[in-house]
Amino acid sequence: MGVKDAVSIPVAVKLAPYFSSFGEMAAQLDRHGADGLVLFNRFFQPDVDVESLQLEPNVDLSTTSSGRLPRTWISALYGRVRASLAGTSGVETSDDVVKYLLAGADVVMTTSSLLRYGPQHAAKLVGGLEQWMLRKGFNSIDDFRGLLAVPNDVDGAAYERQGYVAALTKARSSYEDYAVSKV
Ligand SMILES: Cc1cc2nc3c(=O)[nH]c(=O)nc-3n(C[C@H](O)[C@H](O)[C@H](O)COP(=O)(O)O)c2cc1C
Repeated sequence: MGVKDAVSIPVAVKLAPYFSSFGEMAAQLDRHGADGLVLFNRFFQPDVDVESLQLEPNVDLSTTSSGRLPRTWISALYGRVRASLAGTSGVETSDDVVKYLLAGADVVMTTSSLLRYGPQHAAKLVGGLEQWMLRKGFNSIDDFRGLLAVPNDVDGAAYERQGYVAALTKARSSYEDYAVSKV
């Protein structure tokens, strides 16, 4: 008997990104009835104190850039799975909330920012989102949710390749001067 048969409440699965084929894993969970996919869990990763030769069991709080990987996958899964998509990792500012919604998240979560700035930070995130929507002329979140998701009618591999080439071209123009001046 599966979890879905055993309970009557919705089942959300919090996932790690470390599957050999994450997209296929997400699709299978969706096919087996998961109601929500939460991207991504962060593994507990102890550090090492080289003086005391001891493990240091601590949890690093995330920063804004941690949101890039979950957002990339949310934008790829948007419109391709039935399950709700929740984004967790790297939500520090209201811009991070906006980015997750543009990628296609149904839900945006934050832990590190609340630990860093206190529970009242949640109101700042919501306030910032509202101001952005006003500035951009959006009346509801559904007006822009998934706006930057991978379109359904494109060849996924070509789309990825195109993004890769664009990123490399940009990297080249950003780092070229530095690379040349170092030679
Ligand atoms: C101190 C701490 C405790 C956490 N405990 C749990 C937990 O018990 N279960 C869980 O699913 N995630 C737990 N998390 C992970 C968070 O829910 C969240 O997915 C992760 O920190 C990424 O989001 P963030 O960038 O907003 O911190 C914990 C995170 C922190 C920092």
